[in-house]
Amino acid sequence: MASEPPAGMGFEIRLAGPADATAIWRIYNQGIEDRLATFATGMSPLSEVEGWLADSRHRVLLAENYRQPVGWASLRPYREGPAFSAMAEMSVYIDRAWRRHAVGQLLGEALIAEARALGLSKLIGYLLEHNTSSRKLVEKLGFRVVGVHLRHGPPNGAGPNVVVVERLL
Ligand SMILES: CC(C)(COP(=O)(O)OP(=O)(O)OC[C@H]1O[C@@H](n2cnc3c(N)ncnc32)[C@H](O)[C@@H]1OP(=O)(O)O)[C@@H](O)C(=O)NCCC(=O)NCCS
Repeated sequence: MASEPPAGMGFEIRLAGPADATAIWRIYNQGIEDRLATFATGMSPLSEVEGWLADSRHRVLLAENYRQPVGWASLRPYREGPAFSAMAEMSVYIDRAWRRHAVGQLLGEALIAEARALGLSKLIGYLLEHNTSSRKLVEKLGFRVVGVHLRHGPPNGAGPNVVVVERLL
């Protein structure tokens, strides 16, 4: 990575489309493999990401470095029903090789701007308690901790604690 430009240079963020599914899927599965981001342990099928991109209620932003996909962030409906229609759940996944290059920060800020433009009033995040990097990232983005769900995982096991965070827009 010696020829890599300094953080911030060459990064572009844009709305993802169907042609980006494979890149988003690859980065998503890295996060699953790392066992830090989600309860999922098996690789996600490409069709899952294709489904997001085909769903108008699901917004995915893609970060590229000189046209190379390096991370993505998404908004998806928080819960069904009119009471929750102005809230969205956020996710951020950065390619392993590009973590700690401020891409998460850039995408998070872009996601907040996108959510505001869509007229949303709140973003919500669910983070595994041991996922220090994501907890620091959301703190920098102005989220507050709502609370901690204890042993909030799949049945048959202790289950990890899950930190709930929110940001009013
Ligand atoms: C969590 C994640 C999105 C952070 O993205 P990133 O691009 O590496 O984060 P940034 O470089 O923008 O860092 C922003 C801040 O987060 C914190 N941070 C990020 N990675 C960190 C780490 N490994 N250790 C400690 N703090 C960390 C720092 O405070 C950092 O600011 P600083 O560099 O000024 O100190 C990334 O590590 C990732 O994709 N992880 C796997 C997927 C995941 O866990 N997603 C979150 C669940 S939705």
